[in-house]
Amino acid sequence: MIDSHAHLNDPQFSADLAEVVARAEQNGVSGIINVGYDLLSSQKAVQLVEEYPGLYAVVGVHPHDAKTWDSSVEQAIADLAAHAEVLAIGESGLDYYYDHSPRDVQQAVFRAQLALARALNLPLVVHSRDAARDTLEILQEFSDVPCVLHCYSGSWEMAREYLKMGHYFSIGGALTFKNADRLRSVISQIPIERMLVETDCPYLAPVPHRGKRNEPAYLALVVRQLAELYNVTVEEAAAITERNTRLFFRINEED
Ligand code: NI
Repeated sequence: MIDSHAHLNDPQFSADLAEVVARAEQNGVSGIINVGYDLLSSQKAVQLVEEYPGLYAVVGVHPHDAKTWDSSVEQAIADLAAHAEVLAIGESGLDYYYDHSPRDVQQAVFRAQLALARALNLPLVVHSRDAARDTLEILQEFSDVPCVLHCYSGSWEMAREYLKMGHYFSIGGALTFKNADRLRSVISQIPIERMLVETDCPYLAPVPHRGKRNEPAYLALVVRQLAELYNVTVEEAAAITERNTRLFFRINEED
């Protein structure tokens, strides 16, 4: 299994990172993609790649931090992206739930990172919350950039548009929540060939760890729920989602 979206670059892991990585391995997680959310966390994600085998990085600026974006940050992200283990730009997008950065700034920084991904020939990891319409419109302007809709929580109608565009989806602990029947019904309609699994740790721990610090070792709980939804075995769900992750992020089998 590959955890397609983690934040081991988050300070919450600084005290026991080696143990967290070891537990992931013991629980069948052979790859972890650490995603940046600002310049510092992107640098940290790249640094971790050098310290631990099986780790990969995605570099970019989260919509919460869009207000920190300027030409020097853009250049620094582009420089980091040249690293061989950097797989994509992100997480980037729109978050109108928290509105930590002004919406026009979020939109401009989202477009800037899509343009960067296009220029560098890299895919993009999308964060979208309460901004479905604007996210779709902006992604349509960059329809040649392959995207994964991380922690997908949108409607089936929106998912259908993204499927037509060739995009992928990833889902994590939210899928196991008791009150997530609508989400499970949307996800079950998306072909499993377009689905990745993630933890988004330290956030969104799956049941029975909900509310605690999440970590990649819990990924199997997400895969188990996904297997049930798609009526396949846990082994099949693990193999298919790992293959999808390698395809989307262009990770070689030998890596
Ligand atoms: Ni995230």
